[in-house]
Amino acid sequence: MSNTSTAPSVVVAFDETLPDFEPEPLRRPAMKTGLVNTFKALPLTLDRGDGVWVWDTDGRQYLDMYSGHAVASTGHSHPHVAGAIAAQARRLVFYSNVVDLEVRNRATEKLLSFIASPGGITRALFANSGAEAIENALKMAIRHTGRKKIIAFEGGFHGRTLLACNVTGNPKYRSQAPFHLDDVVILPFGDADALREAVDDGTAAVVVEPIQSMAGCRMADPSFYRELRAVTSKHGALLVYDEVQTGIGRTGRMFFSGRDGIVPDLICLAKGIASGFPLSAVLVSETIADGIGYGEYGATYGAGPIAMAAMLATLEVIEHESLLANVAETGSHLVRSLTSLPGVEAVHGLGFLLGVRTGVRAAEIQAALLERGIIVGTSDDPFVMRLLPPLILQRPEADAFLRTFADTLEELQ
Ligand SMILES: Cc1ncc(COP(=O)(O)O)c(C=O)c1O
Repeated sequence: MSNTSTAPSVVVAFDETLPDFEPEPLRRPAMKTGLVNTFKALPLTLDRGDGVWVWDTDGRQYLDMYSGHAVASTGHSHPHVAGAIAAQARRLVFYSNVVDLEVRNRATEKLLSFIASPGGITRALFANSGAEAIENALKMAIRHTGRKKIIAFEGGFHGRTLLACNVTGNPKYRSQAPFHLDDVVILPFGDADALREAVDDGTAAVVVEPIQSMAGCRMADPSFYRELRAVTSKHGALLVYDEVQTGIGRTGRMFFSGRDGIVPDLICLAKGIASGFPLSAVLVSETIADGIGYGEYGATYGAGPIAMAAMLATLEVIEHESLLANVAETGSHLVRSLTSLPGVEAVHGLGFLLGVRTGVRAAEIQAALLERGIIVGTSDDPFVMRLLPPLILQRPEADAFLRTFADTLEELQ
């Protein structure tokens, strides 16, 4: 398995046109009232956002290199997305999929137009969250194949519902499943031999997070993805790509699927699909879709008009603002620059899904950067900080981040 970017080291050429970003000092920790404490919250209370920037209730400005868990794909409150949501809300807030909706048809057609797989994936099923997409995809695989065994990988994260949690390889979340289901096998990520041994004619699906974000943006060697396709095809098992994070442009392509010519049978999407309006999707082939009967799948809010308007507007922004090219170019710049910084040991991942390994604890870096007005993520690897900026992040802001990060790391080492 290869986790480390092989990008050549270069001298960092920072863009000097953007003045150093000097925010006000942090004044007080965030207050939480009445909530179940499920996340360790950052010490700030957010008020508003605009593009790659957010402001707290004290008016302090932050550069957002995290997008609220890789969600704000077009940035915060993009005018085209916010406008589409507002216009749809004025027209029709909700009607379920018991009726046909033009906005749903246009949005679905647009989403599927980005899939380049002749004879392959042609249909979408919508729900509301990533975990729901995983549940639906695995249920489809089990029902389609008539088999039960599901194979997943150490380090993978697929959500917190019962089945999603069971196929999550990360022990921290897997151990939180109320009980463990039989027929789920967790293999080492990137181990082709283990894969060949485990997949058999009783396997319904192999589910994989192509870049394991929570584990620190770990990627496998390209040969592993080829093996995933080969071995599942050989045994008639379905290959499920969990593209909840890698999908919708984050790696510099619309989907990870299709990379190196490898197309899975099912693709799960969520997070950035509608710029933050709750929506998820499972993309499937005609053959799988045709085997599905009425009432088998559904979610009351799934494919509702506002979610569809938000997704359509998101896809239009990605296309019109050439965000795939921006992620590829600015992402490569970030990787090259980070790789050449003293103290950076490795950069994992692709595009705007990056894990930065240093000898300093990521939580310490995160706190220090927050003091300096930058939001970054940690990961389940204590020494890997995650960068998941909005897809609209441009080079000047990337350079502002790099300058502050370089200074911060130097101080903390
Ligand atoms: C790769 C991946 N799959 C699934 C999920 C679950 O998504 P949700 O929290 O929307 O249920 C997540 C959430 O972080 C994720 O990162």
